[in-house]
Amino acid sequence: MRTAVVILAAGRGERMNSSVPKVLHKLFDKSMLQHVVDSALGLKPEIIILVVSRNMKEIKGSLNPSDKIRFAVQKEPKGTADAVSKALPFLSGFHGTILVLNGDTPLITPETLSSFLRKHRKERNDISFISFIADDPKAYGRVVRDTSGRLKAIIEEKDATELQKKIHEVNSGIYAIESRMLEQLKDIKINVLKGEYYLTDIVGISAGRGSSVRAFCIGTEDEMSGVNTVSELARARQFLRKKIIAKWEQKGIIFIDPESAFIHQDVVIGKDTVIYPCVMLEARTKIGKACVIYPNVRIIDSVINDRSVIKDSTVIEGSVIRAGAVIGPFAHLRPGSEIGSGGKIGNFVEVKKSVIGDNTKASHLSYLGDAKIGKNVNIGAGTITCNYDGRKKNRTTIENNVFIGSDTQLVAPVKIGKGAYIGAGSTITKDVPALSLAVTRTEQRHIKNWVSKNKKKVK
Ligand code: UD1
Ligand code: CA
Repeated sequence: MRTAVVILAAGRGERMNSSVPKVLHKLFDKSMLQHVVDSALGLKPEIIILVVSRNMKEIKGSLNPSDKIRFAVQKEPKGTADAVSKALPFLSGFHGTILVLNGDTPLITPETLSSFLRKHRKERNDISFISFIADDPKAYGRVVRDTSGRLKAIIEEKDATELQKKIHEVNSGIYAIESRMLEQLKDIKINVLKGEYYLTDIVGISAGRGSSVRAFCIGTEDEMSGVNTVSELARARQFLRKKIIAKWEQKGIIFIDPESAFIHQDVVIGKDTVIYPCVMLEARTKIGKACVIYPNVRIIDSVINDRSVIKDSTVIEGSVIRAGAVIGPFAHLRPGSEIGSGGKIGNFVEVKKSVIGDNTKASHLSYLGDAKIGKNVNIGAGTITCNYDGRKKNRTTIENNVFIGSDTQLVAPVKIGKGAYIGAGSTITKDVPALSLAVTRTEQRHIKNWVSKNKKKVK
């Protein structure tokens, strides 16, 4: 069975009131259109034709590349039927089923789409579409049937009679059209009220000519929701959020407040992990088993291994945390950081592009950038790797078992040999040999009776 997909994404999206093209608005880290494209790719179609407006470049640039995707341009938004007709040049010689999707119906799953296609083919219909029962049907075309329940037409709110407005079965905008039926597009007349050619009219025209046209009422309102406004976008986001949380709850992940956690679709979480309120796990983050993620933590594209604890208000981006490490509270791990197993990165510590060995601890107020730090190192409070000389970034190397006293500046490039000690308050500009002590502070002086002499002077 041959399948081609056409995704309509050239509408103006005026109801969003936004300068961003409607289909590029995001649901978590993916645009609405990317969600639809991903669901379509799940069907393994021969080709996916995206009908876009003049903003093709912007849309193309936003999508993950796929050799299945072609772009058709609809310069003026003359309606959904006109949009489909722009895809026809890519379908010449194609004999099979054309699945038409809307770029603004992002929650549709590949499972629903393939079950829909199965039903369409089993009944050998000429045209099928998915309908659903909408609580508030205003934003959708109504499915109008005759007294015997046979499909007659899809009528939009603007064109509906008072009686038709009472119908709650609505069009999802998802159609399976056999290629031989595309001819009928030519017979669609402009809708004078809206000045657009409606794809929905193909249903009425074909049904009137005796073709087999069926609506499968298989959608749930949540999955089929079209997004036309920012509040509908927020509703879609909440739906997706809840669905993802429910999936992880089934796998035994404990959410202290399931209402406030945001877990992106591609995130993976291990068994027995506990997630506190207001946590955001983003992009391709992987959390291991039995981790604890405390409140207000944001983790992006990172790997947190088993039994690690991420304490409150910590941000972790593009980093790897090995097993049993403790990060935070108030820590910031920037891209390219690796924290060894059993390590500790404490409050107000920023780490950037640094590899830190097992059981190394930086517990307070430090900046560690472009550093390679060995195992069992103690980084005292207030330690700073001075990695930037105004022109380029320089590296700091700290070998195993080093002790860095508090308030140390390590002026890179610099290397601290294994087992060395740095006295508190030092500014280290030269390499320190292994097992030695380096101190750079000036010696402490005592001026006897300074206080009483000074007081007399003031009088
Ligand atoms: C459309 C259907 C309606 C259905 C609803 C489902 C029509 C006339 N109406 O209404 O029956 O219940 O979807 O969500 O088809 N688009 C273009 N070019 C255009 C116009 C639209 O590519 O000239 C694209 C839009 O970007 C969008 C999709 O087609 O992705 C649907 O258009 P939209 O204007 O949102 O239609 P609705 O009013 O929601
Ligand atoms: Ca819509």
